[in-house]
Amino acid sequence: MLDLALDDAIANHKTYGNIELQHKLFARLRREDPIHWTEPVGYRPFWTISKYPDIVEIERQPDLFINAPRTKLLSTEFESKVREAMNGRPMLVRALPQMDNPDHSKYQKLTHGWFQPRQLRNLSDRIEALARESVDRLVALGGECDFYNDIAIYYPLRVLMTILGLPQEDEPRLLKITQAYFGGGDPDMQQGSDLIDATLAYVEYFRDVAKERRQNPKDDVATVIATSQIDGRPIEDFEAYSYYVALASAGHDTTSATIAGGLLALIENRKAMERLQREPELISAAAEEMVRWVSPVKHFFRTAAADYEIRGKKIKSGDSLFISYPSGNRDEEAFDRPFEFMPDRSPNRHLGFGFGIHACIGRHLAKAEIVAFFREFLKRVEMIELADKPAWTETSFLGGVKRLPVRYRMRSD
Ligand code: HEM
Repeated sequence: MLDLALDDAIANHKTYGNIELQHKLFARLRREDPIHWTEPVGYRPFWTISKYPDIVEIERQPDLFINAPRTKLLSTEFESKVREAMNGRPMLVRALPQMDNPDHSKYQKLTHGWFQPRQLRNLSDRIEALARESVDRLVALGGECDFYNDIAIYYPLRVLMTILGLPQEDEPRLLKITQAYFGGGDPDMQQGSDLIDATLAYVEYFRDVAKERRQNPKDDVATVIATSQIDGRPIEDFEAYSYYVALASAGHDTTSATIAGGLLALIENRKAMERLQREPELISAAAEEMVRWVSPVKHFFRTAAADYEIRGKKIKSGDSLFISYPSGNRDEEAFDRPFEFMPDRSPNRHLGFGFGIHACIGRHLAKAEIVAFFREFLKRVEMIELADKPAWTETSFLGGVKRLPVRYRMRSD
């Protein structure tokens, strides 16, 4: 059996700031105790689910494994702070990840169409233009930069702001809030703020957006949410702000982390990079592999709504389950050579976007962004290498590299 130190490591943000340690830890769990009862000091206990087929089995039964009320790992101390700030509610927001059916499907329907490939085709010119701007910026930086902080964090945020219909001058404000929101325990990312302050800052920002859209409706997602009806009544303010927060927060850091982590994978796999330059039609498959490889969402929780047995372990009604997407995506049973980055991996039914009714609503958008960026980048880059060691965000929830110093030469034509 596994020891307590391991339980603390699963919950500790620092584990995820060391990518080798993260993968080693979960490889051990998959091998020794794939459904692991975890009791870290300072946290309510939970089951850690580390194998691909178990994650699928759980996520495909949303009535048995529900999302509310515990969606992510927070310390017990933090959980009581949340209740205090929210007048007894256990959650800071109530958006798709905190909802179960029947509400989940009602709220999902509101914006679902906006994120489907047909709708995204109308946006493809804008996405391509933003990808070009990012590569132009790389050129302007003159051969050396921190790819994550100078390039990767801006591009997905701009795409998302276009869909939401938000003005570009609000970008620094939203960026700051998102970084505080997802910083986990990482001192570099949190800048003195914490999750509660960041959520309140989001709500304050989006309150004005909703008010403005109700007065002056436009053709954008912000208007769809602000003016929507649920069960024949206007959406409640709390759910409207929560919806914005979920899209704004989940919508860009995930993609930035995947693009930066994807680039790192190519720098470390020269052959893969050269192959994609020769065969750009493989970039779509490579984008999926980047999501598998990076798996920027480290976990979501589910709560058992009834007793359930899996791999001989007896899950009790009310128990929480920590679903490890990076671990499912490195499962030796589900993937051929899972620790190898294969740009043309096929099939590639990874769990990087989750699975089941809660699978990522933005997955087609994210993929379109990754593909547009690498098409442009690989066409124009002549040489790229690490200028220094990369560093990873210390967070058990969502993140990837937080520093990626690179040196490069772009083609002059
Ligand atoms: C590479 C980029 C992305 C990755 C890896 C990613 C990953 C994920 C994962 C793992 C989940 C949870 C799935 C589950 O519970 O089974 C999720 C949910 C979600 N994502 Fe993404 N995501 C990405 C980009 C985006 C974008 C661009 C948007 C929005 C514009 C977005 C919005 C959401 C929302 C709203 C949910 C909650 C869905 C629900 O609970 O029904 N994500 N995402």
